Amino acid sequence: MKTILLAGGAGYIGSHTAVELISSGYDVVIADNYSNSCPEAVKRIEEITGKSVKAYEVDIKDKAKLETVFKENKLDAVIHFAGLKAVGESVAKPVLYYRNNIDTTLTLLECMQEYGVKNIIFSSSATVYGEENPVPYTEQMQRGTCTNPYGWTKVMMEQILEDAAKADKELSVVLLRYFNPIGAHESGKIGEDPQGIPNNLMPYVAQVAVGRREKLTIFGNDYDTPDGTCRRDYIHVVDLAKGHVKAIDYVLSHDGVEIFNLGTGTPYSVTEIVDTFEKVNDMKINHVYGDRRPGDLPESYANADKALNVLGWKTEKTLADMCRDTWNWQKNNPNGYNK
Ligand code: NAD
Ligand code: UFG
Repeated sequence: MKTILLAGGAGYIGSHTAVELISSGYDVVIADNYSNSCPEAVKRIEEITGKSVKAYEVDIKDKAKLETVFKENKLDAVIHFAGLKAVGESVAKPVLYYRNNIDTTLTLLECMQEYGVKNIIFSSSATVYGEENPVPYTEQMQRGTCTNPYGWTKVMMEQILEDAAKADKELSVVLLRYFNPIGAHESGKIGEDPQGIPNNLMPYVAQVAVGRREKLTIFGNDYDTPDGTCRRDYIHVVDLAKGHVKAIDYVLSHDGVEIFNLGTGTPYSVTEIVDTFEKVNDMKINHVYGDRRPGDLPESYANADKALNVLGWKTEKTLADMCRDTWNWQKNNPNGYNK
């Protein structure tokens, strides 16, 4: 059985990926400092899968501690989810973001080198396409200009991983560029649990639905889009997690660097999200229109052909599924994991 290290595996995407990997016959080891997650998420993964999961509380930047994980486990591949991801916070605290995101990547690569682990998948983002590229984004486009330090860390980490693969011909790197993951596992046991006021649309909508926030502000309705609100490529987190299983199969059997967009290829507007959430969950989401949010692009969506052609992966879930599963998670866990 192949063993995969999930760095940052207790987080939103990591926990869903752990479930899908275990269900596909992989063994997983989680390493997380719980800076944006909690051990309860690991328990929930165990509840869903019926398997016990080895988890280490470790800061990935702490090489001595991370080495213990590499010493104690025969790892076949690493998936690197561990990072800070709040765009606004990255503008206020750029040094924290560069230190955490770049250092975790370098420390992982050093340990991989020392312990002979040759396969890594990296959680990148559509944000690397920057402001210049036209939608839909294809993987061969040049990385663009980012509007914030978070985005730049992703650009830099992609470059670091590409350079590492150039120098070590046995290294296999897959860069997964996620679009907008939303939704939750259908069990309602794991989901997105942001700390404080959510930055992202869907967790904000879910918290309005559960009564934790009074109303949603829709940031701008004067964009050059069909209904004036921004359009994004929302992807169900379980579809995204299944994309990681396909990417693991790929990374284990190839060398060099490959980039894949993980999106649906279909954009939806903010208004369509709110309308669909209201319809499938039979409720009203109190909302108002406000100013544009600085740095937002009118549209961001994938050309998802490459993942289909090379990995044989495509999304299966609908926007209605995403809205239903988000609410199922939120209503079962009104305060997230801190019940
Ligand atoms: P998340 O915050 O839920 O998960 C990240 C996990 O990494 C958390 O459990 C956190 O505790 C852990 N972590 C952070 N720094 C660490 C460190 N130094 N040592 C150990 N653990 C550390 O976020 P997520 O939504 O699951 O995102 C996972 C990855 O995907 C991130 O790299 C993120 O930037 C990227 N990504 C996310 C989105 C999105 O919209 N959610 C979009 C594009 C890319
Ligand atoms: N939005 C609102 N009100 C809110 C929150 C969001 O109207 O309270 C709008 C935004 O203006 C945007 C859309 O909802 O038009 C989506 O916003 P999100 O913050 O959910 O997502 P983004 O597309 O801005 O950002 C996401 C990730 C980033 C990543 C980026 C590109 O959060 O990490 O996609 O991949 F960099």
